[in-house]
Amino acid sequence: MRNTIISLYQPTHLAGLIPTMQSYIDSATRHLSSTQKDDVTFSDLSLRLATDVIGEAAFGVDFGLSGGSPPDDERSKDGEVSEFIKEHIYSTTSLKMDLSGSFSIVLGLLVPVLQEPVRQLLKRIPGTADWKIHQTNLKLSKRLEEIVAKRASERDRGSKDFLSAILNARDSDGASRKLFTSDYISALAYEHLLAGSATTSFTLSSVLYLVSKHPEVEQKLVREIDGFGPSDLIPTFDDLQHEFPYLDQVIKEAMRFYTVSPLVARETSQPVEVGGFLLPKGTWVWLAPGVLAKDPKHFPEPHLFRPERFDPACDEEKQRHPYAHIPFGIGPRACIGQKFSLQEIKLAVIHLYRRYVFRHSPSMESPLEFQYGVVLNFKHGVKLRVIRRSEACHVII
Ligand code: HEM
Repeated sequence: MRNTIISLYQPTHLAGLIPTMQSYIDSATRHLSSTQKDDVTFSDLSLRLATDVIGEAAFGVDFGLSGGSPPDDERSKDGEVSEFIKEHIYSTTSLKMDLSGSFSIVLGLLVPVLQEPVRQLLKRIPGTADWKIHQTNLKLSKRLEEIVAKRASERDRGSKDFLSAILNARDSDGASRKLFTSDYISALAYEHLLAGSATTSFTLSSVLYLVSKHPEVEQKLVREIDGFGPSDLIPTFDDLQHEFPYLDQVIKEAMRFYTVSPLVARETSQPVEVGGFLLPKGTWVWLAPGVLAKDPKHFPEPHLFRPERFDPACDEEKQRHPYAHIPFGIGPRACIGQKFSLQEIKLAVIHLYRRYVFRHSPSMESPLEFQYGVVLNFKHGVKLRVIRRSEACHVII
């Protein structure tokens, strides 16, 4: 199954997605221009953008959240789209794992064995956070089930998006038909939507947040982007791999600084010895990329945002252990969307910095506050002041 999906995230397929990604980025930027006088909650905008891109690439559906013009049958007549994004945002932000989470989550931190029975009980009691989360997830799953059912009924569905590829695999033989039940496919679709949007959106927002408070990084980045060519020249897949080395470093450093998936889990399939400890079969093992990312042994002065530490020519990069920086996980179950999300983030950063620079909004808290959940999130969003490049010389950096 992983192989069926993975083919969609290979270079040839990704190169073909550049126009789709670019068109959503254009829409989002148009929206930015019209609200330029006000500060923008960029993290909301980037979640809309990332959800739209994954909607189109994975489901072949235009959710119409970034300010574009979705086709009539997908666009809501009664605010369905805004409902969808509200549910999606609620669903991604309510997956908290700290003391501000739902009662069952907090209880799970203290007495893990009680978490599931209490959650089952509370999700039936209207008004509780567990009930709200359950209701929202039900609604969101229903929407995805509708999308899955509609696509399943199409005869000539092609194979270029995730959903079509899975449905084609299901239809191709009896064994797959048994495995890929409708519920299973809807669950996969939901996982894909969550895995692909919140992570990419958080990372893009982190880049803008960090660059906007490091003028020397901003100058270097803008110089590299301007040096690529005229502002309407869309980079190709190869350009994105080779022509923006500093942008690569900025993204890596932003992902180190704020690691969106700070924990990665594995379950041992057989007894294994790790670091002198014998782990029986069935043991849960947690890797902590977020802790590794702040280890001064691998990243001297880890509290400093310094993209140059990822310059391939510098000693720090040459001497670092190859597994010290693993924001996309590691091994056979590592993230399948790594190249996809990096392509989207690079296209977005290039597009944005060709036109604008950004400063923190005065309404933004300092230091930044986070919500700790399945993925890391900004507690109050990333609020930025958008400044057209043509006016940027008046800004004191
Ligand atoms: C900056 C963006 C992203 C980050 C930081 C990220 C991070 C991760 C991490 C840490 C894992 C767990 C890996 C492991 O267990 O070793 C993962 C798994 C996964 N990611 Fe991503 N991800 C991102 C974007 C995406 C996108 C765009 C997609 C879909 C297009 C995606 C789909 C998945 C899927 C399906 C898995 C589960 C893979 C499996 O279990 O075999 N991710 N991701």
